[in-house]
Amino acid sequence: LLSLLFLKELLLIGCRYVSQPANKTDVDVGIEGPSMKTEVPGPRSRNTEAVQFFCNYEESQGNYLVDVDGNRMLDLYTQIASIPIGKGRRLNSTFVNRPALGCLPPESFPQNLNETLLSVAPKGLRQVQTMACGSCANENAFKAACIWYRNKERGTTEPTKEELESCMINQNPGSPDLTILSFMGGFHGRTFGCLATTHSKAIHKLDIPTFDWPMAPFPKLKYPLDEFEKENTQEENRCLEEVEDLIVKYRKRGKNVAAIIVEPIQSEGGDNHASNEFFRKLRDISKKHGTAFVCDEVQTGGGGTGKFWAHEHWGLDDPADIVTFSKKLLSGGYFYKDVLRPIGGYRIFNTWLGDPSKNLLLSEVLKVIRAENLIDNVNRSGKILLNGLLDLQARYPHVLSKTRGKGTFCSVDAPDEASRNKLVLKMRNKGVVLGGCGDKSIRFRPALVFQEHHAHLFLNLFNDILADFK
Ligand SMILES: Cc1ncc(COP(=O)(O)O)c(C=O)c1O
Repeated sequence: LLSLLFLKELLLIGCRYVSQPANKTDVDVGIEGPSMKTEVPGPRSRNTEAVQFFCNYEESQGNYLVDVDGNRMLDLYTQIASIPIGKGRRLNSTFVNRPALGCLPPESFPQNLNETLLSVAPKGLRQVQTMACGSCANENAFKAACIWYRNKERGTTEPTKEELESCMINQNPGSPDLTILSFMGGFHGRTFGCLATTHSKAIHKLDIPTFDWPMAPFPKLKYPLDEFEKENTQEENRCLEEVEDLIVKYRKRGKNVAAIIVEPIQSEGGDNHASNEFFRKLRDISKKHGTAFVCDEVQTGGGGTGKFWAHEHWGLDDPADIVTFSKKLLSGGYFYKDVLRPIGGYRIFNTWLGDPSKNLLLSEVLKVIRAENLIDNVNRSGKILLNGLLDLQARYPHVLSKTRGKGTFCSVDAPDEASRNKLVLKMRNKGVVLGGCGDKSIRFRPALVFQEHHAHLFLNLFNDILADFK
């Protein structure tokens, strides 16, 4: 009987009988086999370069993948080998069956992006590439910048035969000697490319081979900023001159700078700030030399500085070619200008390319941010926090210095690493979790729901510790 049923199934799907039937498991219950309604990709699959077809994951079940045109296909590929227990299974498919977004996105994905990430896209950037984490975001932003730069250099998006062959053996011209300029004290992640632009702590970099890429000094500002305006401007100009010198020097060595990457506030490296003017001039330098300007908002993005994107503080019409994000945005990725969109699929690609379930969660997060005016809240509580820290610094100048911050994204320095660590530990035992950054800074990174009374609560507890601190 089983054989007869199997034969019927084979006839239904129209293939030759060469293999023996086996018992069905119940994961495909009620499904006779593939059922094709159109060619694939069908009319409803808005095809882009890499997307094979859009999927209907709600209708997909067990071993069968259903596309938006209603074609049911036996799935022997499973999102590039990443589905463990088949589709459906009465579990919400968005959360369990993570799609290979680059080639088999769910039908709802473009709308999902419009309603979530693209609704908070930085000014001037209409494209978004999702990724899983901050390092992936930066790593792929570098790739996008290099592809764009090479297209500019060769004057066409079509590679030569020589380029296609030489890239396979890591040689010029297919693997060009392009570079990414970064700043001392910057942190952009721990993967190979990112690590070459990370210069915050030796422990991240030790023993890992790296690229010969230019590193510019980041301004070391003196605090309070308004007392040292002249010195700080000089220091910033010195760093900017060095940036230009490096671009020219590397170009002469045949190592053109494809991109400059910078954090609006160097975070892991010690909460190092620079003026809006500094960033405006840096942006001008990148334009003058035709290098992409990549703004790493992995840590600063999402509202903590009192604006959704920290670079909005700079007041630039054209602040960046690429803005990378992760952390508060729940998944990683980058926004970018239309001209940086690579032609052809699979230039920027990996299996998951992010996670649409995270975008669904983000849509709820954004609703709360808007409904509860949380950015205004950050500005209010940030003011209490910053002024309170300044007050404590005035009371305990032998312990605290360099109070700085935007929104609740604040920090203060201890005299040295040991006393910083001791303060963090003492505060933890008082019931307050703080973080360190750089050599001797304490950084504050509360959630957007941190309110004025929380700031007061913290300041009083901190005062207790500081009063007895030796
Ligand atoms: C500014 C910045 N860029 C990149 C990264 C790397 O992100 P991830 O840890 O998600 O790889 C971080 C992480 O802290 C970061 O702060």
